[in-house]
Amino acid sequence: MKHLFTPFQIKNLTLKNRIVLPPLASFLIEKGGAVTDRAVEHYRRRAAGGPAMVIMEACAVSPEGVVSENQARIDSDRLIEGLSRIAAAIRAEGAVPAIQIHHAGRQTSAKVIKRLPLAPSPLPCPAIRGDVAPLTVGQIQDLIKKFADAAVRSREAGFELLEIHGAHGYLINQFLSRYSNIREDGYGGDIAGRTRFARDIISEIRNRLGPSFPISFKISAQEFVPDGLTVEESIDILKLLVAAGIDAIQVSAGNDSTPEWICQPMFMQKACLAESAAAIKKALKIPVMAVGRINDPWTADNIIAKDMADLVCIGRGLMADPEMPIKAQEGRFDEIRTCIACNTCMQSIYRKGRLECLVNPALGREQEMQIVPATQPKKVMVVGAGPGGLNAAWVAAKRGHEVHLYEKQSYLGGQLVPGSKTAYKREMQSLINFQKRQVELNGVICHMGQEVTAQTVQEENPDVVILATGSRPILPTIEGIDEASVVTFDVVLDGDVQENKTTVIIGGGSTGCEVAYHLSENGSPVTIVELMPKIGGDIEAVTKKLLIRKLKENNVRILTEHRLLRVGKNSLVVAGPDGSEKVIEAQRVVVAIGIRQDDTIHQQIKSLGYETHVIGDCLEPRTAKSAIYEGAKLGRSI
Ligand SMILES: Cc1cc2nc3c(=O)[nH]c(=O)nc-3n(C[C@H](O)[C@H](O)[C@H](O)COP(=O)(O)OP(=O)(O)OC[C@H]3O[C@@H](n4cnc5c(N)ncnc54)[C@H](O)[C@@H]3O)c2cc1C
Ligand SMILES: Cc1cc2nc3c(=O)[nH]c(=O)nc-3n(C[C@H](O)[C@H](O)[C@H](O)COP(=O)(O)O)c2cc1C
Repeated sequence: MKHLFTPFQIKNLTLKNRIVLPPLASFLIEKGGAVTDRAVEHYRRRAAGGPAMVIMEACAVSPEGVVSENQARIDSDRLIEGLSRIAAAIRAEGAVPAIQIHHAGRQTSAKVIKRLPLAPSPLPCPAIRGDVAPLTVGQIQDLIKKFADAAVRSREAGFELLEIHGAHGYLINQFLSRYSNIREDGYGGDIAGRTRFARDIISEIRNRLGPSFPISFKISAQEFVPDGLTVEESIDILKLLVAAGIDAIQVSAGNDSTPEWICQPMFMQKACLAESAAAIKKALKIPVMAVGRINDPWTADNIIAKDMADLVCIGRGLMADPEMPIKAQEGRFDEIRTCIACNTCMQSIYRKGRLECLVNPALGREQEMQIVPATQPKKVMVVGAGPGGLNAAWVAAKRGHEVHLYEKQSYLGGQLVPGSKTAYKREMQSLINFQKRQVELNGVICHMGQEVTAQTVQEENPDVVILATGSRPILPTIEGIDEASVVTFDVVLDGDVQENKTTVIIGGGSTGCEVAYHLSENGSPVTIVELMPKIGGDIEAVTKKLLIRKLKENNVRILTEHRLLRVGKNSLVVAGPDGSEKVIEAQRVVVAIGIRQDDTIHQQIKSLGYETHVIGDCLEPRTAKSAIYEGAKLGRSI
């Protein structure tokens, strides 16, 4: 870590190391945009973990510029006080407080802002759709003033660097790109025209804040769409923006059509945007920040070492483990809880309007998820060493309980073991490693290869029993299910996939698709048979987009609205939506139609009178996220 922990200067601002928390919309914000105590605590924790600078999430400069009612805002003086609490908390923990200002433009919904979204041109957002209102020159000038007003409020609130959000398909990005700007007046056309809105904003802010206040610009240097920005064009754009007054650049990518380049899922390489940052750094003489799936300190250090960027932004990585910088500096690498790029954070924002993390159950709940010593140490027996049991065990042990963890297999991790076999999910293994290390560090007593029965519980005679025995695959009761060619998904993921066989996968949910990818990548011809009209079920949207694209590239045949009727020797029979039957060749049939909770022990020990808790899939088959959260919560409460 020779390079990551060296200081750096942006204008008069000294950064103690090269790590920056980029803006991450937390939505821990009141309706109407005011800061909450949770948000202050969230930022305090991030700053305390050791990054040099924390950039507060996108704050809207105008009410119609929000993407959600719970987006942070900076469009009124009444909001300054709340924002100043965040700046103060960041500074108190030793990091530089910075803030991002933002306008969504067309990338919001009329339902949220109660009017038509504003846009450079009459081109709707491809993701949200719906009409938009092209901006008049008068409205553009009004918005330039609003950006500058917001900049002044940022300084008043105590932030020491201002970032302008010019990326991710939002308003400024919409102006910069021919993909979204077809104006024929002075704010469109050639590069001078398309950059004019950004240049006017920068000049106005520079006038209002003076020459010494540091200003950064976040750009989607590549949009990956026809007519979209490329690195070459972005360099020309940035040259004009530097002349207008910016002091630093954060090099991101993607827009409203290519969100996979904004929050890169597991499929994408680590640091996949670092090359574009390096090209921009070479062409321009101002500090450059790299961002995008830089999720471990070595990758970050390497970027600085190779002079690809001056600073590295670690976003999801610091949500997963805010203490990553400190741990890296102290050489405690095996204690880092690594972001696995599952994008649960994005999914939870879209689905629940709140920020959650699969690997870090305390994200956004920092206060209530503190680990405090137990008032009365107890003997705790945890049955099952999947993610739920592991979490409950080490948290309880950390609090001072005597914890015995029983696992019938010879390895820890439960279903996360098959779950991290598929090539693009291998990084999930880091989650098992983290839990294992915590189990070791906190002195959990492991009893491996021991299947717990009611008798084991009685012999151990604990004060508390935690059942985290997980779930088992379901097999349908149909003719031929006993054929040798039929296996469940876990057998395939645990086994030797080199064996090329014509395979039919029954069930096109997340597991079925994952197995289809696994086998087709290894050369097997694969068909997915799915009852519903679509495959992919609950998979996070961006991951699903890439996974389905890969399945198509691998020529996986997808039969939706088909039901498995029976299995024969080297084939099976399915029924289509109209009831017509089809015979499909199948040397191997993989069943991935779901799982059922494994609560055998629970039934056996119910009447024994022990304080018993049931968590994870054993309570109800769901996800590692639920199991970890329930384990983490229970470990804190017993
Ligand atoms: C292929 C696959 C991919 C997945 N991908 C994801 C994903 O991307 N994201 C996600 O969130 N979730 C994913 N999941 C689901 C996730 O792995 C499970 O929801 C999660 O592991 C459940 O955790 P758990 O601790 O409740 O149980 P499990 O992980 O099932 O662990 C239970 C453990 O208990 C042990 N056990 C059972 N009975 C006894 C007994 N009597 N005595 C001792 N030990 C016992 C078992 O051997 C097992 O190790 C995936 C699952 C699979 C199979
Ligand atoms: C939950 C979430 C919210 C985000 N909010 C913002 C934001 O407010 N402004 C912004 O410029 N980028 C935002 N991003 C993008 C990140 O700043 C960063 O560019 C992206 O996550 C890739 O970096 P990472 O792999 O280190 O997370 C957000 C990303 C996530 C996951």
